Amino acid sequence: MQTLYVELGARRYPIYIGSQLDPEQLLAPYVLGKQVMIVSNDTVAPLYLQHYEQALHNLGKTVAHCILPDGEQYKNIEHLNLIFDALLSSGFNRDCTVLALGGGVIGDMAGFAAASFQRGVYFIQVPTTLLSQVDSSVGGKTGINHPLGKNMIGAFKQPQVVLADMAQLKTLPPRELSAGLAEVIKYALLGDVEFLTWLEQHIDALVAGDETLLAEAVYRSCAHKARIVANDEKEQGERALLNLGHTFGHAIESYLGYGVWLHGEAVATGMVMAADLSCRLGWLSEADVARTKNIIQRAKLPIKCPAIPLDEFLSFMSHDKKVLNGQLRLVLMRQLGQAIITKDFDVELMQQAILANQEKA
Ligand code: NAD
Ligand code: GLY
Repeated sequence: MQTLYVELGARRYPIYIGSQLDPEQLLAPYVLGKQVMIVSNDTVAPLYLQHYEQALHNLGKTVAHCILPDGEQYKNIEHLNLIFDALLSSGFNRDCTVLALGGGVIGDMAGFAAASFQRGVYFIQVPTTLLSQVDSSVGGKTGINHPLGKNMIGAFKQPQVVLADMAQLKTLPPRELSAGLAEVIKYALLGDVEFLTWLEQHIDALVAGDETLLAEAVYRSCAHKARIVANDEKEQGERALLNLGHTFGHAIESYLGYGVWLHGEAVATGMVMAADLSCRLGWLSEADVARTKNIIQRAKLPIKCPAIPLDEFLSFMSHDKKVLNGQLRLVLMRQLGQAIITKDFDVELMQQAILANQEKA
């Protein structure tokens, strides 16, 4: 097992990464009150709920659970309210802990419930998808969707501890594993070209689910995220670099309709567009773009999106949270492993980069 810390002063917390982690031992110091509400969904709960309930019972805790239906479409106010119903009807108090057992959807919802129930209770993340292990469980962004926008209602809520158990990835569908690898590749492209070389050596084994290599990939990814979050918790600057590929990706996701492409798949093609534009701006070489596409393809991720009318693509991009004072800012690459956030790019070159990485209509 490896341990990393997110250094946030008094709110500093560990991320435990390994296989067959022992929740009884690892959670003991972090469950501060007596009551624990485990929030999960109807896919993950049958697989892993009992294991965590037993560990918490062994610690002498009072354990209840709230099992939500599985899916991004339920990440909304109505289903958030079911968590509050469960907390209130079980008589949970201000010392209670909400434990998220699931992927990013469950982590974001349970975290927001923990941030707002009785103005804030303790929170623990047990991420069970690769995407949630390398991204959403770390850094404290929580929230729900609104019919008018994804993740538009939320709060920052850092957990007490994160347990990332590679053994739980065994049951994850291969497409979800690849979607998580998109975010892993993102860390390499934005900040660590040596990690990119490592990924190129091991990507086939990662896709095949090698637990030792996955643990190393999660560790290296979380180390990047933890460092950035420690410097810029509330995204005043550097944290926006974590959105490499996301502005293009959100346009793809929004146009296709949520759930048609997974978030990681859209981010993958978005990173190709960002690399292509960085090349058109003279920052990356064509070989760098080819290298970006190659690692994405080897992770079983798409490098082109379906044909999307340019005006619609641009309209979806303009709804991005990185639009400041009406001006679009993009995360691009000055070189492989060195991302920047910039508003200084030729819009025509951006349009060329979008069109070049779509299927023909
Ligand atoms: P998800 O939570 O929908 O999980 C994907 C699928 O895998 C679901 O069907 C889930 O039930 C299933 N699953 C989860 N763990 C499993 C396991 N071990 N075995 C078998 N099946 C399992 O999706 P995700 O990709 O984990 O997260 C996406 C969500 O995360 C989005 O809502 C996105 O907005 C959010 N997100 C948040 C942040 C953040 O910083 N808070 C960052 C990135 C993404
Ligand atoms: N997923 C981007 C962030 O946490 O900032």
